[in-house]
Amino acid sequence: PVLVVDFGAQYAQLIARRVREARVYSEIVPHSMPVAEMLAKDPAAIILSGGPSSVYEPGAPVLDTKLFDNEVPVFGICYGFQAMAQALGGTVAHTGSREYGRTHLTAQGGTLLRELPDDLPVWMSHGDSVAVAPQGFAVTASTPGAPVAAFEDLNTRRAGVQFHPEVAHTEQGQEMLRRFLYDIAGIEPTWTPGNIIEDQVAAIRAQVGDKQVICGLSGGVDSAVAAALVQRAIGDQLTCVFVDHGLLRAGEAEQVEKDFVAATGARLKVVDAAEVFLGHLAGVTDPEQKRKIIGREFIRAFEGAARELDAERHVEFLVQGTLYPDVVESGGGTGTANIKSHHNVGGLPDDLQFALIEPLRTLFKDEVRALGAELGLPEEMVQRHPFPGPGLAIRIIGAVDRERLDLLRAADLIAREELTASGLDRDVWQFPVVLLADVRSVGVQGDGRTYGHPVVLRPVSSEDAMTADWSRLPYDVIAKISTRITNEVREVNRVVLDVTSKPPGTIEWE
Ligand code: XMP
Repeated sequence: PVLVVDFGAQYAQLIARRVREARVYSEIVPHSMPVAEMLAKDPAAIILSGGPSSVYEPGAPVLDTKLFDNEVPVFGICYGFQAMAQALGGTVAHTGSREYGRTHLTAQGGTLLRELPDDLPVWMSHGDSVAVAPQGFAVTASTPGAPVAAFEDLNTRRAGVQFHPEVAHTEQGQEMLRRFLYDIAGIEPTWTPGNIIEDQVAAIRAQVGDKQVICGLSGGVDSAVAAALVQRAIGDQLTCVFVDHGLLRAGEAEQVEKDFVAATGARLKVVDAAEVFLGHLAGVTDPEQKRKIIGREFIRAFEGAARELDAERHVEFLVQGTLYPDVVESGGGTGTANIKSHHNVGGLPDDLQFALIEPLRTLFKDEVRALGAELGLPEEMVQRHPFPGPGLAIRIIGAVDRERLDLLRAADLIAREELTASGLDRDVWQFPVVLLADVRSVGVQGDGRTYGHPVVLRPVSSEDAMTADWSRLPYDVIAKISTRITNEVREVNRVVLDVTSKPPGTIEWE
């Protein structure tokens, strides 16, 4: 792998993703990992990420110079660039002045910047800067605030840049990363969906042998792709379990029951638990209580199905759709506050007594989608927007019942249809539609007064759901959705648009 050493800024994940977009496998490691341990992973290259703005900052992480006692290619970015310069005998000027945001790079040849325009927009965030490059390095670019903004040494296969090539504002950044990976480090771009599938299939076969496997399907992308991958590997030894809690959107249960099975040939056990879920949710309005009930009932339903299955064929493995960001974040141990108790199929208890298969634990969401497409899952399933495990229950503000679910389902379907019709599905991360079931407002329709419920449109754009902004959808799309919802969904006489970013709002309303 290419190792991305995380110096504590939020850029490491982004760098790892960009490396993979260049079709090279990458892994994030903490800067505290001993060099020997990094080398034991046999890295094809090591990328030092950004971090504090200066190597002189109090408490700035130290780069172990042993890293340079061997021949692994190294690319330093921002803080990593300064740390590398210092470690190799260059000088970092303690200027105290800062350069933030977009600036212009003047390129002077070299491999990294070869044939790129001489004047390039790049994204910077640094305090101090490299004044003198280490011996053997050619300086290939400068900016107004950084006389040494890029350097490279082709003999040792080391290079670095003061700016951030991984962010979109650095327009040629991806090209520069590719040049480092291919032309300087000499790595072949072999990380393709086809190869990932081959590797995973072999690994799953080796792990499972001739044992039986169970997989929970949620209707979401991750569990569907994980199941399809395991199905590809071991076929008939897999049984999928889909707990239909009655809180899904229009067409979703059918998608799992028909399209997924048609595409994969997997054996599917459907548990129709809508009655049970709605029974327990009756009259409950508190968001956390809703989540707890749904989480608990989900596990009960799943365990019941697992026991039945186990009686027929002894099950030893459980498939989980854990993704790489979950792995990185839970390894980070930052102890983020519990804003909402998220529940999904991944929240199944450990005492289910199955060994875990997690075929997606090295992958990012976009890679999971590419894999799903390669495995032949339908486009609608693979490109589906994220949807919360507790489903529509947390998009009804107030108590949940069948009638309200039907109203929300109808409004939600209209919003989805119009978004798709306008070709904007990919511009939006997620588009919750929320029913304010306990609110009524006065309206007029035909000749009569109405006293109905508002529906909230909450389209957001995001990279990872950690932060989000409200999507600036064209007004005519919003207008069409509003007109159709108020005309077609009885009891709804008002449509409002949520224009709150996250933070301070969360994506969902509960
Ligand atoms: P929030 O509302 O916290 O949501 O901004 C962030 C992302 O998580 C999804 N979400 C959930 N997913 N179980 C899930 O599987 C949950 O309980 C849950 N709550 C929120 C939400 O849709 C968004 O993508």
